[in-house]
Amino acid sequence: MTSLIDPYSRTIDYLRLAVTDRCNLRCLYCMPEEGLQLLRHEDILSYEEILRLLKICIQAGISKVRLTGGEPLVRKDLDYLISQISKLQPSLDISLTTNGLLLSKQAESLAAAGLKRVNISIDSLDPDTYRRITRTGNLSQVLSGLEAAIAAGLEPVKINVVVLKHVNEELEAFVELARRLPVHVRFIEYMSPCGIFDESFYVSAEEIKQGLAEFGRLEVAEPPLGAGPARYFKLAGAKGLIGFISPISSHFCPNCNRLRLTADGKMKTCLFSPDEDDIREILRSGSEDGYVLETIKRSLERKPRDYGKGSSPGRTMSQIGG
Ligand code: 5AD
Ligand code: SF4
Repeated sequence: MTSLIDPYSRTIDYLRLAVTDRCNLRCLYCMPEEGLQLLRHEDILSYEEILRLLKICIQAGISKVRLTGGEPLVRKDLDYLISQISKLQPSLDISLTTNGLLLSKQAESLAAAGLKRVNISIDSLDPDTYRRITRTGNLSQVLSGLEAAIAAGLEPVKINVVVLKHVNEELEAFVELARRLPVHVRFIEYMSPCGIFDESFYVSAEEIKQGLAEFGRLEVAEPPLGAGPARYFKLAGAKGLIGFISPISSHFCPNCNRLRLTADGKMKTCLFSPDEDDIREILRSGSEDGYVLETIKRSLERKPRDYGKGSSPGRTMSQIGG
């Protein structure tokens, strides 16, 4: 039973929750080299506040929660938070988007706590290119994290690859990865809701798809995997699927089922819009749960049907949680 329905009759059952704005990488499309101004500790929602809010959201029909950041694994005791979230509703679909650097140490305890699956951002399988994109990252550490995630049963593991022109158009290595391991590789169009945008980097999903043609026929995967914006294809001989996320060339807003919560407790109903509601203030002002839910519903009344290209959310990706 859900009571979160927006004015365009979209059922909102998916919450993306940023647990931190901090990150141990500096991906060139996401952050400047020197990093961003960070939130103060007291501005970030405590685990207690997150759990209270989640309880309210789950009662209202949220059935999927994805923990994001920044990099969620840099927040202390994330496995504790996940175990508490699981207790709220054992059937909840709890997932995580991570850069994978800390996964080899944490995958097992996260899975034991109730985490169901992970998406790992790996933009290149070449150590030098990986370092160039992330500025500081160590590829072998991430690949150990990927193996740990598979071993811990955090499946299906999905790999996010933001394709940048003349930087990491190395499709063959990713095809090999999907052949060798049961992971779904998703190619993402570079986009700009984030302030850092250099159009010369942009490669469309269609171009990527054409580039993949030499590795075999892509057949539409039936039934479609997940309800998200990715379109999936089967490639002969591959254990995993190949997916495309095209925020620029085919806008996916009309099917959006998401709410987003930033690490400092701002509710956003649209990635591309600056509109947000300060849920943290409401939580901290002694309001009843009913009032918190009313505020979320009022936010949803303003959820745009399709915010359009070139809009700016007023925050960077690491401040929203992607
Ligand atoms: N364009 C496309 N994807 C991006 N991400 C972060 N910034 C951008 C951008 N400018 C992706 C990351 C990660 C997910 C959280 O969002 O690569 O996979
Ligand atoms: Fe960190 Fe993710 Fe941004 Fe890279 S894209 S700097 S891993 S938050």
